[in-house]
Amino acid sequence: MSIEKAVQILQTGGLVAFPTETVYGLGADATDPHAVARGYDAKGRPSFNPLIAHVPTLKEAEAHGHFSPRARALAQAFWPGPLTIVVPRRPDSSVAELACAGLATIALRAPAHPVAQSLLKAFGRPIVAPSANRSGHVSATRAGHVREDLGQAVELVLEGGQSEIGLESTIVSVDADGRATLLRPGAIERAEIESITGPLAAAQPGKVQSPGMLESHYAPRARLRLDISAPEPGEAYLAFGAPAPAGGLTLSASGDLTEAAANLYAHLRTLDASGTASIAVAPIPARGLGEAIRDRLARAAAPR
Ligand code: TXA
Ligand code: MG
Repeated sequence: MSIEKAVQILQTGGLVAFPTETVYGLGADATDPHAVARGYDAKGRPSFNPLIAHVPTLKEAEAHGHFSPRARALAQAFWPGPLTIVVPRRPDSSVAELACAGLATIALRAPAHPVAQSLLKAFGRPIVAPSANRSGHVSATRAGHVREDLGQAVELVLEGGQSEIGLESTIVSVDADGRATLLRPGAIERAEIESITGPLAAAQPGKVQSPGMLESHYAPRARLRLDISAPEPGEAYLAFGAPAPAGGLTLSASGDLTEAAANLYAHLRTLDASGTASIAVAPIPARGLGEAIRDRLARAAAPR
């Protein structure tokens, strides 16, 4: 059975594309930062945009986000379906921090497509899935499009026919006070959403991506120096392409950018927690995922 095979692939950190009623998604185990990093790499995403975590029902979603009464009402009205709800992230959520790009919120969606539902129920963990296209291309609405765009980077493409909706989910954020904002117009019309939420606040364009937001969340307490081959005495060293030195850590001893991406946030936190005044980071090549890693490091090192 292909669902069984898909579950095995996800359990071992692989990528499975699956149909939803909006577009095909490029699925990875949301709780495995290495698998999440592979997903970014396969898409060729220029930066670590936050991803949507897919769950079968509201019950599972509530393990990862705080649902105000209004957020719950939205889920009850439109799930399973083409709506993504952004809510405050629960600190005990098992979804990898990399998938949330360092934000204090999490995007959750329960898709309706029967293949997606079967996969989510069989896997039993949330699945992050950006649209299954190369970054910048149009979204994939047939299994064949996924193959064309992503080729061998995806181990399995679950066949689900043509996407019924073919337009990405509507994204609405609902904060702790129940204030609802339309972040992305999509498969569900504004009026339908507003029938539940009342008038939607306008999204501030680019807010999620804003350097300030990510900076303030990810800047370590310690000073960060980038592209350093020889750390100063007393500095904690974040290595790349070499083993960890005493008192330091390595993003990837073998120089694997996917592994480095998966380790980045956790290692910065660990070194910061060691109490060092300064963290020196080895040069990271700008190719592939390195571009995104460098982008995050530059934000973290920016003057505060
Ligand atoms: O229909 C869809 O939504 C498809 C299917 C596969 O579910 N997925 C999809 O994912 O379109 P993607 O990664 O292409 O777009 C997700 C959008 C991005 O624009 C991202 O910035 C936003 O969701 N997003 C994710 N987490 C967010 C958060 N915590 N706050 C604000 N926006 C968020
Ligand atoms: Mg997309």
